[in-house]
Amino acid sequence: MRIYQAKDYQEMSRKAANIISAQIIMKPDAVLGLATGSTPLGIYRQLIDWYNKGDLDFSEIRSVNLDEYKGLSADNEQSYAYFMRTNLFSQVNIKPENLYIPNGLEEDIPKECSRYNNIIKSLGGIDLQLLGIGNNGHIGFNEPGEAFETETHCVKLTENTIEANARFFASIDEVPKYAYSTGIKNIMQAKSILLAASGKAKAEALYKALYGPISPSVPASILQLHNNVYIVADEAAFSLIREKGLLPDQEA
Ligand code: GLP
Repeated sequence: MRIYQAKDYQEMSRKAANIISAQIIMKPDAVLGLATGSTPLGIYRQLIDWYNKGDLDFSEIRSVNLDEYKGLSADNEQSYAYFMRTNLFSQVNIKPENLYIPNGLEEDIPKECSRYNNIIKSLGGIDLQLLGIGNNGHIGFNEPGEAFETETHCVKLTENTIEANARFFASIDEVPKYAYSTGIKNIMQAKSILLAASGKAKAEALYKALYGPISPSVPASILQLHNNVYIVADEAAFSLIREKGLLPDQEA
């Protein structure tokens, strides 16, 4: 596990974007596992900036998103499909036929889950999986308590996650109660993983994920077992780890 420390959100975003851009440059047809939430926004802005400067080319990139709310169409402004279109896909030269995201409108859960697992397999797996982290240690929508061997599945969201994500909706009642999410198994099968975190609200989850026991009660703790993980976080997110004297001093 490699740990990259950043002073603030902007620096965290640039360092994380650097890792993604290295992947794109070294493998122009890489399969990127992409994430939503407020954390990756700055990363996407940085990638778009480099694309506009001619430093990055997405024309052969394939992307597989982590999750989608069940019941929301891709046109719904709160859907993750809409988020990805607005915040990245429409601003770079990635091809629409190379973009994959669970279909929130599919009612047949086993059908949608196996369709999505098959897509990931047919692409040859994920080269670099980008992750944020929930306040309760969730990754994608893999909530505490879920089995580590799960693949794409339909998740009942916890109250904690519904409350945390309510800020994107007009009211908490509008937050969907279920979501399709790739599972911990899909995430762990990625060749490399980049977890980005920013802000004090993530400090405890990050500490438990990186230094706590490996347990389904903190889904991100499984990352300790992956052999190619990059953690990029800012000072506030690393604050508890630093307080406990576990963070190495780092120059760059
Ligand atoms: C949602 C997403 C996760 C994301 C998490 C944290 O639950 N499904 O992929 O990591 O929120 O979001 P944020 O980055 O906004 O704190």
